[in-house]
Amino acid sequence: MAAGRKRVGVLISGRGSNMVSLAEAAQAPDYPAQIALVLSNIPDVAGLDRARGFGIATATVDHRAFGKDREAFERATDEVLRVNQIDLVVLAGFMRILTPWFVTRWEGRMINIHPSLLPLFKGTHTHRQALEAGVAEHGCSVHFVVPELDAGPVILQAKVPVLPGDDEDKLAQRVLAEEHKLYPAALAEVASGRARLEGGVVIRG
Ligand code: GRF
Repeated sequence: MAAGRKRVGVLISGRGSNMVSLAEAAQAPDYPAQIALVLSNIPDVAGLDRARGFGIATATVDHRAFGKDREAFERATDEVLRVNQIDLVVLAGFMRILTPWFVTRWEGRMINIHPSLLPLFKGTHTHRQALEAGVAEHGCSVHFVVPELDAGPVILQAKVPVLPGDDEDKLAQRVLAEEHKLYPAALAEVASGRARLEGGVVIRG
């Protein structure tokens, strides 16, 4: 790996298709980040196997072992990130709400992908929300993570049309194809320092 590449920890909870798109992008010699660790809060998910296929180190911190104590789970996660000398945290289908303790610790160094054109359609079932709202365009956003859910400053967005006959699955597939291009592009912006969180806004250049 080239010197100076940011060491990225990708947090997942499932299939990990966005993680795969990041791992593929990071194979380019001039990509400014390396995927140093893939961590799941659920044991034995497909994404962990896919990460191992890339030769990436993996870890599991099972949130169920910590009961209702979210911060204890996060302290254990944070310790694994620290041991692996992680510079940037990338949430990719990570299905745990993070407490202000963890978010503050990683503020400006943690990004998430959300399958909607934020600030529209926060939370879950975003494709259903878009269809019910009758919008003509939908898409995905990569944003810095702040304590309020899905409210962080947006780094990049990609749009797709909503087509006649769309259902949730069709729309989700169209958005996911864009996610797989958008996330590597956004991580490159952050890892290279071209996009930074300063004073609650994204500074570019
Ligand atoms: C993606 O749609 C992402 O936007 C959302 O959860 C899904 C994760 O998919 N947060 P994958 O695990 O990356 O395949």
